[in-house]
Amino acid sequence: MVLALKNTSLPHGCFRQTLEGQKTSRIPLWIMRQAGRYLPEYQEVRKQAGSFLTLCSTPDLAAEVTLQPIRRFDFDAAIIFSDILVIPSALGQKVSFPENRPSLEPLTENLYRQFIPLEESAALESVYEALRKTRQELDTDKSLIGFCGAPWTLGTYMISGDSGCKETDLSALRKENPSFFQALMETLVDSCVCHLTRQIDAGADVVQIFESYFDTLPGDFLAPYGRLLEQITREVSRLRPWAKILLFLKGSHPSLWTYGMIKHLDGLSLHYTVDPTWAYEHLPKNVVIQGNLDPHVLVEGGETLREKTHSMLEVFSKRPYVANLGHGILPPTPICHVEDFVAYVRNFRDTCTH
Ligand code: CP3
Repeated sequence: MVLALKNTSLPHGCFRQTLEGQKTSRIPLWIMRQAGRYLPEYQEVRKQAGSFLTLCSTPDLAAEVTLQPIRRFDFDAAIIFSDILVIPSALGQKVSFPENRPSLEPLTENLYRQFIPLEESAALESVYEALRKTRQELDTDKSLIGFCGAPWTLGTYMISGDSGCKETDLSALRKENPSFFQALMETLVDSCVCHLTRQIDAGADVVQIFESYFDTLPGDFLAPYGRLLEQITREVSRLRPWAKILLFLKGSHPSLWTYGMIKHLDGLSLHYTVDPTWAYEHLPKNVVIQGNLDPHVLVEGGETLREKTHSMLEVFSKRPYVANLGHGILPPTPICHVEDFVAYVRNFRDTCTH
């Protein structure tokens, strides 16, 4: 019954249709980190909020900045304005953003033992309220994307505390204290499942898992780690089967591995270091690809932007595809370059041929 109700209220635009494996009349488009500092209207609300975390935890303001890029560029999906580090914060680790860069208090085993499981916590209610408010305002053809950081990425931030030497710290913990490492990974898997299902219940019809430190994953941990990621995708798709699941992996080589390892994924968001032709040839044809223009090219603009966008669309439009960047948009990106990018995608072809 619940499922039937959910299905009737699902968005029906081209982004959702592409993820459902249907042909669409145009290429769906959104941009990673589409709400943010490159937009003057975001800067305005950000100033009003005072701090980044206040902005994230004030539903009206978070919903407002989530909708800003939709109003300006008519993207096909909105991604809720929040951060991957809300999970460590909700668990009980202090998180701050001095000068907009994340900083976390050191995670000791003692602090870990005091963590409050996300399942028993209402700490992220403001995120769900922001999703409900956004969904109410969003046109019915637009999807709403919820997200979380993947366990390796979250663990990296939680163990390293701030930007110093991230990869070595979590890899070292794995070797030096395997039982703590394993417990932390399991807590994070459970937290991701909980946060994603709650976001879906609040109105997200698509979720994206960000593995922004995938390129630092040790080779001998790839296979066991694949099983942890699969646990998340399996649980979320079992509990909320109408939701579509995307995975962003930073780095180039492992896309093929992912598809061998992880079931229940609806699409893969490719990092900009992945060559489109390679991806076209090697990834199974039914897999939805999202990406992967280099965000630096969007800063540069001009002929390079036109050429790179066109060649990317040429390759990917022959298969199920969502146009996007290959990582988050950079703050110095001129708005007119985003407008050009949107126009190139929208005018690429009248019909998508996959
Ligand atoms: O528009 C959207 O995409 C939704 C909002 C969003 C933010 N962070 C807002 C944000 C999303 C999806 C994220 C995900 C996120 N956060 C990731 C995964 C994606 C990636 O980039 O690899 C990571 C690693 C983080 C952690 C984080 N948060 C970093 C490294 C930083 C500082 C660097 C930066 O990119 O600005 C943040 C702060 C942050 N998160 C800002 C925003 C808009 C900047 C703070 C501000 O001035 O408002």
